[in-house]
Amino acid sequence: MTKPAVNKPTVPDLRARKGTRLVMLTAYDFPSAKIAVEAGVEVLLVGDSLGMVVLGYDSTVPVTMEDMLHHTRATRRGAPDAFIIADMPFLAYATPAQAIANAGRFLKEAGADSVKVEGGVDAVPVIEALVRAGVPVLGHIGLTPQTASSLGGYRLQGRDEAGARRLLEDAVAIERAGCWGIVLELIPAALARAITGRVGIPTVGIGAGPDCDGQVLVFHDLVGLFSGFTPKFAKRYAEAGALMREGISRYVAEVKAGAYPAEEHSFGMDEAVLRRIYGG
Ligand code: KIV
Repeated sequence: MTKPAVNKPTVPDLRARKGTRLVMLTAYDFPSAKIAVEAGVEVLLVGDSLGMVVLGYDSTVPVTMEDMLHHTRATRRGAPDAFIIADMPFLAYATPAQAIANAGRFLKEAGADSVKVEGGVDAVPVIEALVRAGVPVLGHIGLTPQTASSLGGYRLQGRDEAGARRLLEDAVAIERAGCWGIVLELIPAALARAITGRVGIPTVGIGAGPDCDGQVLVFHDLVGLFSGFTPKFAKRYAEAGALMREGISRYVAEVKAGAYPAEEHSFGMDEAVLRRIYGG
């Protein structure tokens, strides 16, 4: 039996993080998970954004359960003590039965601690079924990338009165359904503040202003590893892509110039053995 994780937050611990600036970041593999935790990130999300930033799709729609399980396992190996949330991919939770079967795989086979489900009022039956079955659920409303096309593309949600009211209703409904927290994506800051004030569980914002209970970003956006498109809210804290390109082009130049590998990168051998081989 493996040892229980030391200091891993529980779901009640996370629920109690209301108003305390919870720091969440996506991670998709061993190195990104390890680096994020070493840097102080508190909760990791294996987002289906991996479809775009790791697998090169132009949306999250093609991402499969097998993709998500593979990356969640690698993330767990990089962060054995972290609270890890796995994103349920598109159509993996179309019915409560399907949601329970797939969420069970994340918890039992890949070491996830919670799943994330996109959707508001419409997602209530699925969220209720998951919570009743013992699966912790993080909700996700606002811009929900899996259904971005139906929402008119990757654009700000909840701008007009009807949209804002709908998002408030969504937040209240999924809190009642049993979510321990809610991701608010790409909505006006004032609406995020109102939702955060209305619900008793932590909100985690991405493009939702400063007044959410926590923040989440996509790893590759934060470190400058994804140049497909950069939303206004995605602050780049590093230029890892440029650093990697520079290092790799130096490697190319040194191999071509015969400068790498040098003596210090090579291994010696007993001269007598060499003489026996070559008969010298
Ligand atoms: O897939 C993802 O990375 C997400 C975050 C943007 C919240 O859902």
